[in-house]
Amino acid sequence: MEELQCCVVSCERQLDKNYWDNQYQSNKTGWDLGEVSPPIKKYIDELQNCNISILIPGCGNTYEAEYLLHKGFTDITVIDIAPTIVEKLQEKFLSNKNIKVILGDFFEHYNKYDLIIEQTFFCALPPTLRQKYVYKMHQLLNIDGLIIGLLFNRIFETNPPFGGSKKEYEMLFKDAFVFKQFDVCNNSAAPRANTELFIEFKKKIAVIVDLYGFEGITCNGCMNTVSQKIATLPNVLNVSMSTNYAEVLIVSNEAVLLQDLQNEISYDAKYFIKKLNS
Ligand SMILES: C[S@@+](CC[C@H](N)C(=O)[O-])C[C@H]1O[C@@H](n2cnc3c(N)ncnc32)[C@H](O)[C@@H]1O
Repeated sequence: MEELQCCVVSCERQLDKNYWDNQYQSNKTGWDLGEVSPPIKKYIDELQNCNISILIPGCGNTYEAEYLLHKGFTDITVIDIAPTIVEKLQEKFLSNKNIKVILGDFFEHYNKYDLIIEQTFFCALPPTLRQKYVYKMHQLLNIDGLIIGLLFNRIFETNPPFGGSKKEYEMLFKDAFVFKQFDVCNNSAAPRANTELFIEFKKKIAVIVDLYGFEGITCNGCMNTVSQKIATLPNVLNVSMSTNYAEVLIVSNEAVLLQDLQNEISYDAKYFIKKLNS
């Protein structure tokens, strides 16, 4: 298993509601493109059915939603954790029945969507939440549902944003999603030229995607051993552990018994696994 970079220092900062709201209140919104991102605009232009249900998590100023409304889409939901930006959007779209603006945490949101648009949300989250993000995305999508959008194909010196590589994302999303598009973007907004991957990932339905809490691991070596052992269990397709070793995403083609998982890791008495799905 490959060694992945961990954001040990950066993860110490709380990237919570207060942090993000502060960014809006003090106008420190360097991520804001001021327009719909060109690759996403192109994708929207090619969509045929304006009645599909669409979610934009971590929406910020959500030029994407504005463009969708302009194109006649009728079932758009945007969600953000920062009250300041959400109040602004709620006022802006007050009389528009085609868009729902939610103040809330993406990880506590429950519904089903045909399409989820990723635009600098994944990179805003602490990397320790990446396994949970994949699990949640899979849960929120309808059959044949898609995540589309952009992921950074670079590492940053200071965070957020938190970057990554195609290889890293492949290991994270594989088997839970079919990669329909996963390429370096050739039409990114100028400041992000050659640093983004355009993704179109389709939810796999014949698999089970589960999230577990894990206790007892303290180093990458142990994480690799544990992941490899779980991966040898029947029906397991992919195992991905968070960089703080607290959560593990398991994709399988049939349900895996918790007892089998616990037995597999019981060679070390301090290891403990429990299901986190809700
Ligand atoms: C880097 S900004 C991107 C905003 C917008 N997508 C854009 O591209 O301009 C990240 C956004 O995610 C929101 N956010 C962070 N964590 C969140 C969470 N757990 N649930 C919902 N929104 C969240 C922040 O408030 C912020 O608006």
